[in-house]
Amino acid sequence: MNSIKNLEWRYATKKFDSNKKLNSSQLDTLKNCFNLTATSYGLQPLKMLVISNNKLKQQLFQYSYNQAQVADCSHLLVLCIKTNIDGDYVDEKFDFEKRLRGIEEETISGFRNFLKDTINKKSENEIESSAVNQAYIALGNLMTICAFEQIDSCPMEGFNPQKFDEILNLKEQQLKSVLLLPVGFRAKDDFMSQLEKIRIPVEESVIEIN
Ligand SMILES: Cc1cc2nc3c(=O)[nH]c(=O)nc-3n(C[C@H](O)[C@H](O)[C@H](O)COP(=O)(O)O)c2cc1C
Repeated sequence: MNSIKNLEWRYATKKFDSNKKLNSSQLDTLKNCFNLTATSYGLQPLKMLVISNNKLKQQLFQYSYNQAQVADCSHLLVLCIKTNIDGDYVDEKFDFEKRLRGIEEETISGFRNFLKDTINKKSENEIESSAVNQAYIALGNLMTICAFEQIDSCPMEGFNPQKFDEILNLKEQQLKSVLLLPVGFRAKDDFMSQLEKIRIPVEESVIEIN
């Protein structure tokens, strides 16, 4: 039941205590959690920005429908997709795997060619939307680990990605922002923290087939 208690403890935090900051060990946990997220074919088409600079958070707040979480959180995590997923990217992934695991080309060439062929046949939109799906998996992972580490967070789609990309120079880095996760610690007077969690009964959301 401990897992469930942790998940019940978490909520989409609307008001952070701006004086409370994550320490470096908590940040390391979240960075590694992001990096350990499983992705389709292991392609890791994602990058995460970790923003602590107050001026920058304040600037981004204006392009997040003035949602205070973005300015008041300890760190703003910006989940981005890579825009350079192509045959060469796949080659790099397999070369890395070969070095890391010390395996011969013959062992992986079949999968390498299959994956390059698969990627080459996909449109830019298809590649992008698959990468976005992976970003949501990372978001879920981060939210869960935050809950287990007693770190507050607020998943957010409500922001202007074009403006974020511009301010953070993401195009030059072959990235696009897709999701936000402000993290930190809830303010004592965040009224949302006291509210009953709203979920339909579990019997309604799960179908058991025996
Ligand atoms: C993908 C996603 C996007 C969300 N975007 C926002 C957002 O922009 N602003 C916000 O305040 N909450 C946002 N939420 C929070 C949801 O409203 C919240 O998770 C939901 O109402 C359930 O409440 P709980 O997380 O407190 O249990 C988002 C949640 C998810 C999963």
